[in-house]
Amino acid sequence: MSISRIRHAGFVALGGSAFCLIVALAYPGKASLPPATDLRDAASFASIRDQDARSAALFTEAAKVIMHPRCMNCHPATRRPTQGDDMRPHEPPMFAGAADKGPSGLACASCHGDANVATFTGGIRSIPGNPHWSLAPASMAWQGLTLGEICRQVRDPKRNGGRDLEAIHHHMAEDHLVGWAWHPGEGRIPAPGTQKAFGELIRGWIDSGAKCPA
Ligand code: HEC
Ligand code: HEC
Repeated sequence: MSISRIRHAGFVALGGSAFCLIVALAYPGKASLPPATDLRDAASFASIRDQDARSAALFTEAAKVIMHPRCMNCHPATRRPTQGDDMRPHEPPMFAGAADKGPSGLACASCHGDANVATFTGGIRSIPGNPHWSLAPASMAWQGLTLGEICRQVRDPKRNGGRDLEAIHHHMAEDHLVGWAWHPGEGRIPAPGTQKAFGELIRGWIDSGAKCPA
C-alpha cells in the first residue's frame, strides 16, 4: 500500500471532502491515488491541544505538498529524475551527473530553461523551467521514504544541506524553485494550496517543536 493511498484513506476515514471520497471510489484498485488538491490552513490545527500531536499533524498536512509529484520528481531515491503524476522514469533517460545538473554534454539546462515553455502540442504541453533547475542531492532523496522518515531527513542538518529550522522554513516558504511546484506549466497539476499557506504550516510545525509523525 503506497503512502498516498494511506493518506487518502485516512482523509476519507476522517470524513474529509466529498471529492476525496469520490476519488477513492473512482480508483478502487489502483496502487496510488491522484495527488491531493486541497491544503488546510495552519490556524485550523489550533484545536489540537497536545503540542507534540499538533506539530506532527501540521507536518502531515504539509506533506500533502512535500509528497506531491511536483516535488517528489526532483527528490528521487536513485540519481535519476522522474516525471508526471505517476513518477515514471524521466524521458529521455536522465542522470544527476557530478553536480546534480545533468551529465556533461546534456545539462538539465539544455532542455529546462529559466521558465516554463509551452509547446502548443497535444502531448507534452510544456517543458518545465526555472533558473536553478537541478536534481536534489542524494542526502535529500524522498521517494520511497515514509512521512516520518522524510520529516526526520528535512530537520537533520547533516542531510538537509546544513540548514537550521529557520533556513528550512525560508527554503520552503520563499525558494523560487520550490515555488515552481505551484506554477508548473501547461499540462501539470500544481501542488495543493499556495506556497504561502504551505509556509505557514511549516512555521506552525517549527513553532510547536518540529515533531515528526511516527
Ligand atoms: C533532453 C531534454 C531534457 C533534459 C536534458 C532534461 N530534461 Fe527534464 N524534462 C524534459 C521534458 C521534455 C520534460 C517534460 C516531460 C513531461 O511533462 O511529460 C521534462 C520533465 C522533467 C521533470 C518532471 C516535472 C514533473 O513534475 O512532471 C523533472 C523533475 C525533470 N524533467 C528533471 C530534470 C533534471 C533534474 C534534469 C537534469 C539532471 C533534466 N530534467 C534534464 C526534458 C529534459
Ligand atoms: C527542479 C527540481 C526540484 C523541484 C521541483 C523541487 N526541488 Fe526541492 N530541492 C531541489 C534541489 C536541487 C535541492 C538542493 C538545493 C540546495 O541545497 O540549495 C532541493 C532541496 C530542497 C530542500 C532542502 C532540505 C532537504 O532536506 O530536502 C527542501 C526542504 C526542498 N527541496 C523542498 C521542496 C519542496 C517542498 C518542493 C515542492 C513544492 C520541491 N523541493 C521541489 C530540487 C527540486
